Amino acid sequence: MSVALAPSLLSADFSRLGDAARACEDGGADWIHFDVMDGHFVPNLTVGPIVLRALRKATRVPFDVHLMIEEPLSTLDQYLDAGAARVAVHVEAEPHLHRFAQHVRGRGVNPGVAINPGTALASLDEALLFVDFVLVMTVDPGWGGQAFIEGSLDRVGRLSEMIRRAGSRATIAVDGGVGPDNIAPLVRAGARHFVAGASVFSDGDVPGSIRRLREAAGSAGTLRA
Ligand code: DX5
Ligand code: ZN
Repeated sequence: MSVALAPSLLSADFSRLGDAARACEDGGADWIHFDVMDGHFVPNLTVGPIVLRALRKATRVPFDVHLMIEEPLSTLDQYLDAGAARVAVHVEAEPHLHRFAQHVRGRGVNPGVAINPGTALASLDEALLFVDFVLVMTVDPGWGGQAFIEGSLDRVGRLSEMIRRAGSRATIAVDGGVGPDNIAPLVRAGARHFVAGASVFSDGDVPGSIRRLREAAGSAGTLRA
């Protein structure tokens, strides 16, 4: 099994999102990550389904949608209609995770659950059996460019073990402060999908940054499935 890279447009120039999406495609990104924020679940406000739909025409790279919003079920279909190929809601925001997962899968999209750094992994126990992935937040969500929270590596390792014990097929995605310096240990701890904003967009060379991330992930060695 290989590693998937999902640049987050949150750190791109919002006046040129189409160009940013095309640069991700040129760099061989596996996904483009959209950070949807509602000003309630997190203090910041970003983009909604109209922007997703518009950018769907700019690239063939599939969209990985991270809903940092309250009551996500009430607007979920708008994101699915706009072209999401995988979508995560927060365990802190959505009590009906089974209903969510069933609905999303019924639309041919991969359902995932996101979890904040301060939320116990045990709250995922049951959901591991019906989501396709867990999005482990390694910063408190709300802004790009924050520092990776120490201790998150151990958390990914513990989640990996929980998934194995539960007999779940869920994969682990990591979001927040990911860069070439910490991606290899995260791969070894069991993560397979990486969201990266600042480390992809901050130096103006998107394809080069994606390549450096991939090389760093590859240095983790042979991966188990
Ligand atoms: C945090 C978001 C992220 C994050 C990624 O609220 O969910 O996707 O901003 O950006 P970096 O890699 O800059 O932390
Ligand atoms: Zn995100």
